[in-house]
Amino acid sequence: MKDLRENWSSNFGFVLAATGSAIGLGNLWKFPFITWKNDGGAFVLIYLVCIIAVGLPIMMAELLVGRKTQKSAVGAMREAVGPAWGWVGTWGVMAGFVILSYYAVVAGWSLFYLFQTLNWSFFGFPAQANMGGLFEGLAANGLLQTILSGAFMLLTVAVVFFGVHGGIEKTARLCLPALFGILLLLLFSSLTMEGSGEALNFIFRPNFSELDTVAILEALGHAFFTLSLGMGTMIVYGSYVARERSLVNAAGSIVLLDTVIALIATIIMFSVIFTVPGMSEQVDGSPVGMLFISLPQLFYEVVPGGVVLAPAFYLLVALAALTSTISLLEVVVSYFIDQKKMERSRATLLSGACIYMFTFLSGLSFGAFPWLSNFELFDGKAGFFATMDHFASNWALPLGGLLITVGVGWFMPSKDTEAELVESGSPGWFNYKAWLFAVRFIAPAAVAAILVAVIFFGKDFS
Ligand code: PHE
Repeated sequence: MKDLRENWSSNFGFVLAATGSAIGLGNLWKFPFITWKNDGGAFVLIYLVCIIAVGLPIMMAELLVGRKTQKSAVGAMREAVGPAWGWVGTWGVMAGFVILSYYAVVAGWSLFYLFQTLNWSFFGFPAQANMGGLFEGLAANGLLQTILSGAFMLLTVAVVFFGVHGGIEKTARLCLPALFGILLLLLFSSLTMEGSGEALNFIFRPNFSELDTVAILEALGHAFFTLSLGMGTMIVYGSYVARERSLVNAAGSIVLLDTVIALIATIIMFSVIFTVPGMSEQVDGSPVGMLFISLPQLFYEVVPGGVVLAPAFYLLVALAALTSTISLLEVVVSYFIDQKKMERSRATLLSGACIYMFTFLSGLSFGAFPWLSNFELFDGKAGFFATMDHFASNWALPLGGLLITVGVGWFMPSKDTEAELVESGSPGWFNYKAWLFAVRFIAPAAVAAILVAVIFFGKDFS
């Protein structure tokens, strides 16, 4: 039976697909914003430490559980760790459902800005443009939100429908090179801008006096989101990896690429922002402001070649979001295929439709429908969208991540984990004992700290 499972056609295809999952709105939307909010330098350094000490080991843990069992999240945790651990997989499937439901809304906005910038590039950017007003108009327009997020969901469903090889891998092979190309183009252009020096300084010069402990936990929480960890995405993607391939190498590449891309995106955005006098004071409040309010205008007013680069940039955001939504849907779909023995086509359409019902509610919670905009489950988090995001970032991913790392570190026989990581070949920098230590002690302690901060100190990492 096992041999019937669809596999990635090559290691390269797998790494591209998993990297596509990791690179997404987290890199382009959240990371630059939290780096801004936490004053750069020291925060970036702490983030890198979190990625290496916690993100990378958990990435390997998830991949190995998937590859060993060749099953999706629920079946994999059950078989690799123990019968009761299937619940951790179920928790992950639910997290995938929730995250995709609101992620698709922001992904839909990227489509809007892609069309809008194309329009401006061809027909001219209006002299008296009011970008804040444009965004608010979009946010409060229920019909537009429904159509945009619906279109994005359809795209996602269309890819997952065609399976691991014909859908997911093929799309990653198309999107990722395009994404890297656009990003490099933007990077070169932004480095010629006046503000680039200040931007690099801001991002890479640590000033520890400005860092507080909450920022450390925020960096850690973001490491989960950006690497698609804590909900079984990497278990599922790992389950399509053939036996003889090195997981350690793959994990290293995915983490490295995700981090480099997040940093490049931040350099690009900050170079633009620092080039305009007074702009840095205006970019505050929310990540939405930076990506969808400040940047569009700046592209047309200060960026050299902005007419081309603006649509390219929003295409980049849309492609990055698509390779992530695909992976989110795949976690849910693979659950129905493996556990409920459903056909892929049926599982995809059904999951897509159910998730979209929640997407619809999130899309209407930006003013279109007051009850949804005021919906409040967590103190101070008004709106259905904010509630979903809060639940995912504060509860779903940290708790899922904690249980996965504890399960793999303490309850899975170490001969199994060692076999998966070492026998298929591991590079010189990898040390199994160090990995085991990270998965047993460092990662659980660090993730538990997030949960303690959320539960006992009312902190918010969404
Ligand atoms: N990693 C994706 C991003 O950075 C989001 C994501 C989270 C995707 C969890 C899959 C699972 O945007």
